[in-house]
Amino acid sequence: MDGSWVNYAERIGADLHLELSGPGGRRAALIRSLREAVRGGRLAPGTRLPPYRSLAADLGVARNTVADAYAELVAEGWLTARQGSGTRVAERAEPLRHTARVPRKAPPRARGPRHDLRQGTPDASSFPRAAWLASYRRALQQAPNEVFGPGDPAGRVELREALTEYLARARGVRTEPDRIVICSGFAHALRLLFGQAGGGGGGVLRGPLAVEAYGLGFHRELLAAAGVRTVPLPLDEHGARIERLGRERAVLLTPAHQFPTGGPLDPARRAAVVDWARARGGVIVEDDYDGEFRYDRKPVGAVQGLDPERVIFVGSVSKSLSPAVRLGWMVLPERYVDDVLAAKGEREAWASVLDQLSLADFISRGSYDRHVRRMRQRYRSRRDRLAAALAAHAPHVEVTGVAAGLHAVLRLPPGTERSTVKAAT
Ligand SMILES: Cc1ncc(COP(=O)(O)O)c(C=O)c1O
Repeated sequence: MDGSWVNYAERIGADLHLELSGPGGRRAALIRSLREAVRGGRLAPGTRLPPYRSLAADLGVARNTVADAYAELVAEGWLTARQGSGTRVAERAEPLRHTARVPRKAPPRARGPRHDLRQGTPDASSFPRAAWLASYRRALQQAPNEVFGPGDPAGRVELREALTEYLARARGVRTEPDRIVICSGFAHALRLLFGQAGGGGGGVLRGPLAVEAYGLGFHRELLAAAGVRTVPLPLDEHGARIERLGRERAVLLTPAHQFPTGGPLDPARRAAVVDWARARGGVIVEDDYDGEFRYDRKPVGAVQGLDPERVIFVGSVSKSLSPAVRLGWMVLPERYVDDVLAAKGEREAWASVLDQLSLADFISRGSYDRHVRRMRQRYRSRRDRLAAALAAHAPHVEVTGVAAGLHAVLRLPPGTERSTVKAAT
């Protein structure tokens, strides 16, 4: 039938939105609306307009109203009407030019660096495209219809189940699906726990928060913007100095691989921080950002395994797969689950449900393990090449923190920092 939306869309190749409001009746409104669509370039020169009958049915106006409007626009030169080829947008109808704004010049294309040595970035060329696509396809094919409705803020149960099994096996995490809340990564977890920028609360935990004296600046800024006071915890070669924890009620740590100095938290200190949390009624936020990538021995397990009621364990796929996927997880002590869910809101507004189902499939089929194992080998060999190149060309530079993760710490001889930065840029 001519009047159906599908036929209409097929004929002109696209949907056509027309507003029939304003003064002067429907005919005048239709003329104005079509004229604007042509003048503004929404209807390109040569585009065939729908037959009177279809457009009239779509808009709920009389056929003659459309015929009159077309005739008027033909007379004005916006449209052309030819026997057998219908009504089309005139070839000479010029689209609206944006003269008010000075067109922005494309920024000069920066020359890419010869060697991209940015810290912590996973190898973008190794994203497991085929396996991810296969998981996505399966997820899409098998998803029940309710998946396409509003999502549960806890995250899909399929993913929470897959993570429960994976995190227990690979990271020593003790949990169950009901204690996991899916988020879009570590930064999102921090926002849920400590509130949003602008202060005003809304978070689940209160400051002051002890943080490792060196850490990711971005996370510190995020906490500062949320009005959370942070107290630096000094570091030494065994990691954060737990004995220096004071009156804080929460501490943020990177125990598997301190960021950025690169060592694991000493076993005695792992036990000590749990004792501290028990004694103070406090909580440890464990940032397990690259826990899978340990090269010289088995990965260091999560502190969470020592006491699931005292640790909020947070992980994401940002290092293991890609920071573009934006999926992460929070493994929570029972007492925080409801508050975190309340902070997240009534519906899932952060993590695509289809991506969650894809990741669930990706993990359960072993693709995640295979990818991590492959990348571990690749990063280990990269690290060896970096260390060999430095030993050959810059023997005075000490390389540390390379037993794990995606970054290395190079200690420069005193007084050489400026000249090194200059030579590198
Ligand atoms: C110390 C640290 N924690 C966590 C993350 C992961 O952040 P997200 O999950 O928000 O991408 C990163 C990634 O760069 C990091 O460097």
